[in-house]
Amino acid sequence: MCGIIGYTGNRDCVQIIQSGLGRLAYRGYDSAGIAVCSNGDIDLRRSHGKLENLIARLTREPLRGHTGIGHTRWATHGRPSESNAHPHRYGKFAIVHNGIIENFLELRQELIARGHEFSSETDTEIVAHLISEYYTPDTGFAGAVRAALRRVRGSYAIVAICADFPDEIVAARLQSPLLIALGDGENFAASDIAAVLAHSRRIIFLEDGDIAHIKADTVEIQDITGQPVQRPVKTVQWDISAAEKQGYPHYMLKEIFEQPQKITDTFRGRILEDEGQINLDEKTANLEFEKCSRIQIVACGTSYHAGLLGKYIIEKLARIPVDVDVASEYRYRNPIITPQDGFIAISQSGETADTYACLKIARERGSKILSICNVMDSTIPRASDATFYTRADPEIGVASTKAFTTQLASLMLLAIHFARRRQTITAGDARQLLNALRSVPHHMETILETSDSVRSVAQKLLRASSFLYLGRNVHYPIALEGALKLKEISYIHAEAYPSGEMKHGPIALIDEKLPVVVIAPKNATYEKTLSNLQEVKARGGRIISIVSEGDDMLPRVSEHAFVIPDCEEIVQPFLSVLYLQLLAYHIADLLGNDVDQPRNLAKSVTVE
Ligand code: G6P
Repeated sequence: MCGIIGYTGNRDCVQIIQSGLGRLAYRGYDSAGIAVCSNGDIDLRRSHGKLENLIARLTREPLRGHTGIGHTRWATHGRPSESNAHPHRYGKFAIVHNGIIENFLELRQELIARGHEFSSETDTEIVAHLISEYYTPDTGFAGAVRAALRRVRGSYAIVAICADFPDEIVAARLQSPLLIALGDGENFAASDIAAVLAHSRRIIFLEDGDIAHIKADTVEIQDITGQPVQRPVKTVQWDISAAEKQGYPHYMLKEIFEQPQKITDTFRGRILEDEGQINLDEKTANLEFEKCSRIQIVACGTSYHAGLLGKYIIEKLARIPVDVDVASEYRYRNPIITPQDGFIAISQSGETADTYACLKIARERGSKILSICNVMDSTIPRASDATFYTRADPEIGVASTKAFTTQLASLMLLAIHFARRRQTITAGDARQLLNALRSVPHHMETILETSDSVRSVAQKLLRASSFLYLGRNVHYPIALEGALKLKEISYIHAEAYPSGEMKHGPIALIDEKLPVVVIAPKNATYEKTLSNLQEVKARGGRIISIVSEGDDMLPRVSEHAFVIPDCEEIVQPFLSVLYLQLLAYHIADLLGNDVDQPRNLAKSVTVE
């Protein structure tokens, strides 16, 4: 995720910003930059790649100033490069930005028509231009930022400097974290406490819609209409390690809790609910996967499970046959793939060696290649015809969580898009599905509030030496993912089966020691699953279930039932996997395991 720091005060800001950026590096980034107010102008240095590159640049071409901004960028709009790195400068302004400007194409066209020229591919640069457009002697600095932000749809944490006001910074927030740290004769703005903890523990957390006008000795906060607002000053006690995890004990838990926001980001600008349409980028739309006679999905690990779920949804909605393969199998079996087929590679990192090898086979055989990926411009996107980016931001916990649910969200948008183009669903159906998908973040928030009670259930289960996970239809890939999460971080053996397969083998394992985790919200296969569970119960098995609200049958045979709201089937996988992520996390944590870096596992597997 991108990181922001801004400073105004009496000290030389470059050193402060540079070390703040160092503190933000843990979040992952692909480029970095610093801009300062200097001699009535703005001066900036930016570099592609690691911070060391920026520091070397600053050594060769030093910057000096008392007011400045810095940024570590993780690409979402525009590939990682020096020209796309922040800060972005236009006229008298320079800005850094985290988030996504939803209406950036529209604004860009408008500005081009008024003669603006752009030097980057980013959505951020638009905002610098807009601020310049609105800047007059009357608006002043903060007023120009406010006027510009009224035009912007999307999410942002923005910090700006202006050559005419070399002792001021302006910071604004909408759905992307931003805070102000109060010093003595100096003040800071940052996306993240870790960036400023060395200087201050007195923090103002900005709220959505806040615009803060920050000088060395004063901070004034207004809302988007210019009305003053008051925000409390809090004193934080976190050490640097807690600050990096935003107070969560592990990155994995932080990332589990980030999922509602990340899914919102995946949807941002891509859902045209009124029209029942998906707004895909041109390259992806032009691939016309809906015309393929078959789709082949290839992935590894958690991404493979997302692919399996994609098969259910694409086949159901768009009626295109979908095959899903584990990459390490696919690459060595001389697969059948033709120019009429569409090939989808799913990879969080975009670097997985087996998945990349399969992509090359598909390329040789002439099929169209779409990737679903989280890291812009990584190897797999670069080798693809188009990429649908998941926008989960960097995932640090080795066990994948938010990358998975944003992959699901991406696949569902693609499925709805294919289905609309093939007219296998009506605009009304699409509206209903999109409306349901929009409710996912809200339902996830509600489930996250029950994390402590999931921990109590975990406490009762952690001595088990093996688990069985069961699910049917869209819940089968979720069962696989739940079992994988548990294995990865708790080191407890777990396997998953389609519920209907239980009688063909796994039933022999059932005794009073084996927890059977069954995912059975109300859907077309609910009754079938219920009878499978009677078989488990009859053999004394321990049933932990995930059920729909209002189900009074399954909780009766369960040792514990996790409840999800009554919702469309397309929403259910997001909610059931959330319980399974929490369950695995709490079991592993209670066992005292290294949750973020489980033994023997790597985040990115770039070798065969
Ligand atoms: C490793 C990671 C998994 C991940 C898999 C595929 O095994 O530990 O979390 O699902 O690789 O990675 P990818 O980056 O291609 O999604």
